[in-house]
Order: sequence, then C-alpha cells, then structure tokens
Amino acid sequence: QKPVTLFELGKMRAEGRKIAMLTGYDASFAALLGRAGIDVVLIGDSLGNVLQGQKSTLPVTLEHMAYHTECVARAAARPLVLTDMPFGSCHENPEQAMRNAARLMAAGAQMVKIEGGEFMAETVRFLVERGVPVCGHIGLTPQSVHQLGGYRVQGRSDEGAARMKADALALEQAGAALLVMEMVPAALAAEITASLSTMATIGIGAGPACDGQVLVLHDMLGIFPGKTARFVRNFMEGAASIEDAVARYVAAVRDGSFPAAEHCY
Ligand code: KIV
Ligand code: NA
Repeated sequence: QKPVTLFELGKMRAEGRKIAMLTGYDASFAALLGRAGIDVVLIGDSLGNVLQGQKSTLPVTLEHMAYHTECVARAAARPLVLTDMPFGSCHENPEQAMRNAARLMAAGAQMVKIEGGEFMAETVRFLVERGVPVCGHIGLTPQSVHQLGGYRVQGRSDEGAARMKADALALEQAGAALLVMEMVPAALAAEITASLSTMATIGIGAGPACDGQVLVLHDMLGIFPGKTARFVRNFMEGAASIEDAVARYVAAVRDGSFPAAEHCY
C-alpha cells in the first residue's frame, strides 16, 4: 500500500477526487481503515467522548493524544496520520503550539489539526514554516462548546457567514493544507470550497461540495450510545462486516452519494 502524502492530497483536490477521512484511535482499526481505502486517519479529540465517556472534548490531554497517535501510527500503512491538538495545547502562542505539535509529530502524526479561524493564522504559519503540516477546523468547534452555547450549526447569519469565509481564506494564506468544516450550511461550505485555491475542505455536516468528508468512526458504525447528529449515516446497515461498512463509506464519499440532502443543513 502506497502511503498517502500531502502531495497526493493536493493532487486529489486538484483533480476533483474526493478525500475519505475517518477517525481512528488504535492499531487494529488503523490497519482496517487503510485496507478499506481511507486516505486520512484522524486521531480526533473525540476520543474523549467515544473512548473515555467524557461529556466534551475539553478534558482530553496532550498525553492522551500522543498515546493514541502512537497506537495508530504503528499500523497506518496507507492513510496519512492526522492528530488533533487538544484544548489548551496550542492557543496561548505559536511557541506553545510548536512545542506541543512536536510532541505529537514525534508520536507519529504527519499533520496536526487546530480549531479556530483567523485568530489562529499566525500560529498556523509558524508551524507550517517549521515543518508541521496543519489542518484547520472551523464552523462548530467542539472545544468552544461552552462559548458557542451548544453543538449548533454555525454561519447561519450574514455576519457569521462572512466571518467564516474570511477565516477560511486566512488559514489558506497561512499555509494550512486541509480545512475541516463542521456543521456549516451546505451552500456556505460550497461557496467557501470554491473560493479556495490550494487548501482542501473536509466536511462533517457541511454538505457534498467539500473536497472530502470525515465522520467519527463510532458514529458511522452505529456503536456510539445515544443520539447522533443529523449528518451521521450508519454504514453498518446492510454491510457484511466492519471492513465492508468502511469500504461502503469510502465508495459513497468518492462517488458523492454521501452526504445526501438528509445529512445536510
Ligand atoms: O475529534 C474529532 O473527531 C474531529 C472530527 C469530528 C472532525 O475533530
Ligand atoms: Na476534534
């Protein structure tokens, strides 16, 4: 299996081939995701919710992220390894972010994901210039759940939409390679995707026009206890195995049949 590189992701974006991303937190799933065709495995701080049973991602630490990154990196032969910078690990200043990103890169991350828009652009540039590829994350940013007042669609007002467009451009100009957009109206996400020239957009509840899609593994396998969001589809329905479910997700992302209108805002 040929490893997916940053260069390959850029080529996929340029050629209009969709990028299929899923979260993964351990070696067995990292190997399975690679076999099923996943391009990028995200060690998301959603591990706080799905592995640790926390009510939010806020209690997740840098050491938790480094441990799960090591587990995934040992087995991720094909997918690019992307790790979330957890709450409080990168928002003080660029130096703090670089120090903590270096810990995650040493654990096996090939890119780090940072929540936040224009206000994080200086930090993004600082990391990119020092050899750390960066994925931005805007729209619903779960580390800010208490500031946002819940898990809600973002960018619905004219002002919010304008701010989100400016955030995306600022992150692209700072050198971010990827941009996760979470719970964003499909029309706005399409407009943002079309406005960019190098950065690939990855949607989660952001419509089908993004350059790729991401879901939380436990959500798309239907094993997360409790209610899931509108943007989730359970790919185990009709699947012969977990690997088949992931392969069906990859196929649905690639041919544009996921997300459908029912998964969008
Ligand atoms: O932590 C996570 O799983 C994420 C994705 C939902 C994008 O950030
Ligand atoms: Na996350």
